[in-house]
Amino acid sequence: MQVNLRSAWRIRDVEIPTRVVLAPMAGVSVQAFRRQGRRYGAGLVCSEMVSCAGLEHRNERTLGYLRIASDEHPLAIQIFGGDPATMAEAARMVEAAGADLVDINFGCPVRKVTKTGAGATCLAEPVRAASIVRAVSDAVSVPVSVKMRRGLENGSRACLELGPRLVDAGAETLTLHPRSAQQMYTGEADHSLTAQLVERVDVPVIASGDVTSRARAHAVLATTGAAAVMVGRAAQGNPWAIRQIVGDYDADPSREEVVAELILFMRETIRELGERKATGFLKKFYGWYLGRGRFPRTFKQELVELKTLDEVKERLFAAAPGAEFVLARLEREHPRLDEVELDLPISIYGGG
Ligand SMILES: Cc1cc2nc3c(=O)[nH]c(=O)nc-3n(C[C@H](O)[C@H](O)[C@H](O)COP(=O)(O)O)c2cc1C
Repeated sequence: MQVNLRSAWRIRDVEIPTRVVLAPMAGVSVQAFRRQGRRYGAGLVCSEMVSCAGLEHRNERTLGYLRIASDEHPLAIQIFGGDPATMAEAARMVEAAGADLVDINFGCPVRKVTKTGAGATCLAEPVRAASIVRAVSDAVSVPVSVKMRRGLENGSRACLELGPRLVDAGAETLTLHPRSAQQMYTGEADHSLTAQLVERVDVPVIASGDVTSRARAHAVLATTGAAAVMVGRAAQGNPWAIRQIVGDYDADPSREEVVAELILFMRETIRELGERKATGFLKKFYGWYLGRGRFPRTFKQELVELKTLDEVKERLFAAAPGAEFVLARLEREHPRLDEVELDLPISIYGGG
């Protein structure tokens, strides 16, 4: 039976308006990306992974990841760490910041993270993994979700044993990206494991991995019984993929729309990160927005070499003059960040 991708579902008392979840992606899932995702039809968005040690030490940059705009909800903030007590404390801060869900990262395969006992290492340590989930779910009243890979080694099925234990420990949703940590992003996500996980737990499961089209989303939902699909790389510089998957609108964007969205994204990112940081951060987005046959390859290279973001904007407008009108419309429809941004509660800073 085909699932209606525009139907709402729930994680306990949190209503998620569509079946598409925007993936957490380190170095990508800034607030501008999440707000854009919601605008294009993602029912739930997620922050990139936030270090619980960084939160514990009130690291200014880490605290910045907790800034939530009112039009992002429902939103999950993802935390990573290997120590249950520190993770519980981080979860309290995430809840105080206003997140609707606390998501725990048991999937990150990167050595810098795994060597600290966080991320995918937890897949091979079920007792510690369960005690992290127990500590976090005891610490907060919002629902707790866990995002995991299939296991550490290729062919591993660790997620099938671990999943039910994490649910017993308090997880109210599981997201499975059925690649091994060893695989990184090679090969394919094996969603037959997602189907088996769905059979073993009585909480909603979100299927992550290689969902790039509406047809694929329908196939994954129908063959796994998952509650929702998660979309990651397909949405990088491409919010239209979400719109197409949710089924609102099939057409590819015009060049003017692409340029207008990119410039809006640049403006929001500058507000969020500051001009200096945004300059480097945005470079990878030029290729993502302007690629996919939308502009000649040389154009991206030209932009990357420009010194200031003002020059980049000028060059973009010159390549698609009509974009100014599209941008004006987007800005009318889209409240400015300062109108929706919430300050962090003082308790998060430790009260001075
Ligand atoms: C650049 C990048 C950064 C990622 N960062 C995170 C992260 O911070 N937390 C996480 O749980 N998964 C992270 N992932 C994994 C994605 O959330 C997702 O599970 C994976 O990309 C598979 O989905 P896709 O095929 O739709 O991209 C990241 C993936 C990419 C490509």
